[in-house]
Amino acid sequence: MEAKVRVRSSGNSEFNRDGGRQAFRRASHAGSTGNAEPPDNDHRETASLTFSGSFTQQEAIPDEAIDAAVEVMRSGRLHRYNVVANELSETALLEKEFAAMAGRRFCLAVCTGGYAITCALRALDLLPGETVLTNAFTLAPVPGAIVAAGGLPALVESDEDLRIDLDDLQGKMERASARILVLSHMRGHICDMDRLMELCDRSGVTVVEDCAHTMGAAWSDTWSGNHGSVACYSTQTYKHVNSGEGGLLTTDDADLMAKAIVLSGSYMLFGRHAAAPAAAEFGAIPYGYPNCSGRMDNLRAAILRPQLRRLERNCAEWLLRYRTVEQGLELIDAVQTIPRSQREAFVGSSIQFRLPGFSSAMVSRVVRDASARGVELKWFGSEQAEGYTSRSDHWRYIPERDCPKTKDALSCLLDMRLPLTFSIADCRTIVAIVRDVVNRTAG
Ligand SMILES: Cc1ncc(COP(=O)(O)O)c(C=O)c1O
Repeated sequence: MEAKVRVRSSGNSEFNRDGGRQAFRRASHAGSTGNAEPPDNDHRETASLTFSGSFTQQEAIPDEAIDAAVEVMRSGRLHRYNVVANELSETALLEKEFAAMAGRRFCLAVCTGGYAITCALRALDLLPGETVLTNAFTLAPVPGAIVAAGGLPALVESDEDLRIDLDDLQGKMERASARILVLSHMRGHICDMDRLMELCDRSGVTVVEDCAHTMGAAWSDTWSGNHGSVACYSTQTYKHVNSGEGGLLTTDDADLMAKAIVLSGSYMLFGRHAAAPAAAEFGAIPYGYPNCSGRMDNLRAAILRPQLRRLERNCAEWLLRYRTVEQGLELIDAVQTIPRSQREAFVGSSIQFRLPGFSSAMVSRVVRDASARGVELKWFGSEQAEGYTSRSDHWRYIPERDCPKTKDALSCLLDMRLPLTFSIADCRTIVAIVRDVVNRTAG
């Protein structure tokens, strides 16, 4: 056997495999579409098993949302500021409802999650070439959003549990004397937010939370996005609500929100927002900040509003699938799952696992053989950037991009989407195929 299998023991008692178990039990009893029993140690013959489901197939847009979208089209008023007397646009209503859901004073809907990050940085008066700290393990739009705002990404290592390395962060905060951290909760893994905020508050670093993968998640009962000064969510198809493209920015900071609204392209129509500071509070901001067009339209807002009402239920369904797959993966000797904190209520819309000791050739073989049997695994550690995956050293526009610890953590890390179109039985089939492929590769 080529693989050196390491038994994991997390020294940090906060991080263990029980995180979210209670929620899992709640979800199990909440009436899932699939079989709610946790998986057993199913050792049936799997050599010929294949899977035909699509890892990129999200649920259909609910009828209620389709009806609302058709209504907008019938009205012809798709632009967010195109309203009749006393009308609040679908976009303004979305902002109002999302702000209430998140427990934030203000919300702005924009064209993408990446734009929301860029807009937040511009609203924080980022200077040209200013250093912005961010996780080395994130998706390409995050450093891209920093560069789009004129900043220079300074990459902070991630640990093997896929969270930002707080010791590296502390060192880099001191050395780079940076003012802003874009904290990416990549793949929904939330770091110790109490410690992170203590570090950032002590150093006067403003935290912009990238919540593209944590809409509906929480840390210590605080909604993900409410720890930092501003949070950015994505409503792109593969996220937790789906409008094709879209982004939401939330904050309690009136000055920041006024700037963000003007920057997003409000013209002088900022009075038509419903989760914003009063028009009188905008003062000279509309004259001092450029219109960097990035608005959301009423069609997408109409599609999103009914989906917000389903978010909590969907999060429970994702968790059920996640725990089913996780429990199955834990029975595979060569596989290491990622520990979750008891303080983290995460959204299990994807799962990551490691194959410690597997060479690159072995990981590549697992990906190829699983794919041949219909199971789509993504390898963030691959030498070549592929599909949506890339490593920090692939971002050649960043002068200092090498993060050896993160690269090492990603070298044997695999990632799998868990769309709600999968049943619990599907999840078990997928695990059986992964088990077979991994065991055959391990030899
Ligand atoms: C971690 C992360 N942050 C930000 C984004 C940007 O979101 P959007 O595609 O809406 O621009 C993505 C998109 O996939 C992402 O995965």
